[in-house]
Amino acid sequence: MPSKLRSTVIGVGSCLPERRVTNAELATMVDTTDEWIFQRTGIKARHIAAEGETTSMLATKAAERALVSAGCCPQDIDLIVLATSTPDLTFPATATQVQAALGIRQGVAFDLQAVCSGFVFAVATADKFLISGSHRRALVIGAETFSRILDWKDRTTCVLFGDGAGAIVLEARQGEGTIADRGVLATHLRSDGRHREKLYVDGGPSSTQTVGHLRMLGKDVFRHAVGMVTDVMTDSFKATGLGADDLDWFVPHQANERIIDASAEKLHISKEKIIKTVSQHGNTSAASIPLALAVACADGRIKPGHLVMIEAMGGGFTWGSAMIRW
Ligand code: UT7
Repeated sequence: MPSKLRSTVIGVGSCLPERRVTNAELATMVDTTDEWIFQRTGIKARHIAAEGETTSMLATKAAERALVSAGCCPQDIDLIVLATSTPDLTFPATATQVQAALGIRQGVAFDLQAVCSGFVFAVATADKFLISGSHRRALVIGAETFSRILDWKDRTTCVLFGDGAGAIVLEARQGEGTIADRGVLATHLRSDGRHREKLYVDGGPSSTQTVGHLRMLGKDVFRHAVGMVTDVMTDSFKATGLGADDLDWFVPHQANERIIDASAEKLHISKEKIIKTVSQHGNTSAASIPLALAVACADGRIKPGHLVMIEAMGGGFTWGSAMIRW
């Protein structure tokens, strides 16, 4: 097999706002209960950004921690891809604010918008840059302050989401071109814009000139989720010739524990291999996967050489998977 550049994970970091809001606290704000939220979603608590705490602040902290874990300095980074649906401002891109805050002067930084699938899309995008040889080291960030776009009077949505940020550092390294290589082995992305009404924000600069609030037909999203994410995971298995038994860890988007369990069951991924943070973080959209990766790396579950599958599905609809040898 010919030598081949691989986008290798060399660092991971995360940041959660200090304030933790339990289901019980939410039950004092809207007509809900801890039992309803936990039974339907697996969520027990989420973190909510403080007043004035922005997506770029959370992202910068997560990126700093990822750089430390990678043993890199800001000068080593020539690409920042930041996935968010809750940017600080309509423009400039939040990624450029993170770039400035980190003191990075070289390279390029841009945002990517694929809602809850944002981190998977950002990994796939950064991977294309790195394996082309055009860039050497990337910060890939998922960062959100969904609390800012929630309708806090709508109990069907406000109990589901939280704020946070996670980041990884990817470095272009020479591999052998085999599935034994460390790095991103396969990515598969999909979208289908016909599903807009099922999950969207009812405001924006060009339509209402407002920020708007998240609207979701939860049951409809749920109905599509398992089929979509298992399809793209199957694509990754086919592309690599690997299967569920080869996986060390399954790190899904953390929206709902029932979706996670049903997806794993459908593909015969054993329960012990699932990394779950939904109970403590809620659904943090593009931040949910890197937050979960950071937890599982910090507690020693994910180790170099392990085979990790990430997947997500979100507004648009968008959905995707990435198979990574850590
Ligand atoms: O990140 C990707 C996008 N998001 C998702 O993946 C989310 C996908 N969807 C879901 O996770 C689930 O559909 C939900 C958790 C949103 C809802 O669970 P469900 O089992 O589909 O419940 P439901 O929507 O059928 O609602 C059942 C009942 C309704 O009452 P009625 O009409 O049966 O009397 C709701 O009004 O639960 C009621 N309800 C609540 N009750 C207490 C809805 N929200 C709440 C609440 N507390 N917070």
